[in-house]
Amino acid sequence: MLDAINAGIDSLRAALRESKAVVALTGAGVSAESGIPTFRGAGGLWRSFRPEQLATPEAFARDPRLVWEWYDWRRGVICRAEPNPGHAALAEIERRKGGGFTVITQNVDGLHDRAGNRRLVKLHGDIWRTRCVECGTVTLNHDVPLTVIPPHCPCDGLLRPDVIWFGEALSALEWEGAVEAARHADLFMLIGTSAMVYPAAGLVELGHEAGARVAIINPETTPFSERAQWRLEGAAGEILPLLLESW
Ligand code: OAD
Repeated sequence: MLDAINAGIDSLRAALRESKAVVALTGAGVSAESGIPTFRGAGGLWRSFRPEQLATPEAFARDPRLVWEWYDWRRGVICRAEPNPGHAALAEIERRKGGGFTVITQNVDGLHDRAGNRRLVKLHGDIWRTRCVECGTVTLNHDVPLTVIPPHCPCDGLLRPDVIWFGEALSALEWEGAVEAARHADLFMLIGTSAMVYPAAGLVELGHEAGARVAIINPETTPFSERAQWRLEGAAGEILPLLLESW
């Protein structure tokens, strides 16, 4: 198993170095080693919470306080977390490849930004931004805990987390950026995501159909495992730094 991983790392490292347009689609697994729970695995958030009560526009309309209390708790967990070696490696890959590397993330935790990635598409929003449901103003807010729950805008409108909930459309700007990057990718890396949530997971299909080779870094199998040229079954924080050795 270890030999297979090592051989895979050598050949993926070569592909990463040679590729002109690399996309990394990341998910909660990338932040797992920072101590932030994933959604679907053991200890995942959707094992103990019901998304329809906490992560839908209907849930927010019904009980904004409950939804904000959950987000306030998550912000508390995230603010104590640090980017891990997986995040650091992705930032270093961007430094080395410049414009030829884009991270598309489903994570809302801000750890890719903190690690230093700048060509970053945040498909599901950002837990550190609020958006007014009345006037639409988006504001950065790092208060932990929030001083008032639920928080309000200066215009008196209710503020919501600026994240995408189930049943909501992605931001057109972010989605177009992601599609553009996926279509032009020659190497598509799927890292720490179960790839079960669409439309995000559809980006892998798009990239693969447009000719990108696919690499998966995940201790578990995913629906795209069959289509992947590389399947590195391990933790992102251990495997990604190995891709940078003897570059
Ligand atoms: P999931 O919880 O569905 O999947 C996390 C994946 O990370 C699993 O496939 C794990 O096997 C893998 N994993 C766990 N630890 C890992 C590690 N150390 N290194 C690499 N991989 C690891 O999370 P996402 O795929 O991100 O959306 O979920 C997608 C979306 O569903 C989220 O953005 C969120 C959620 O509901 C919304 O809230 C809209």
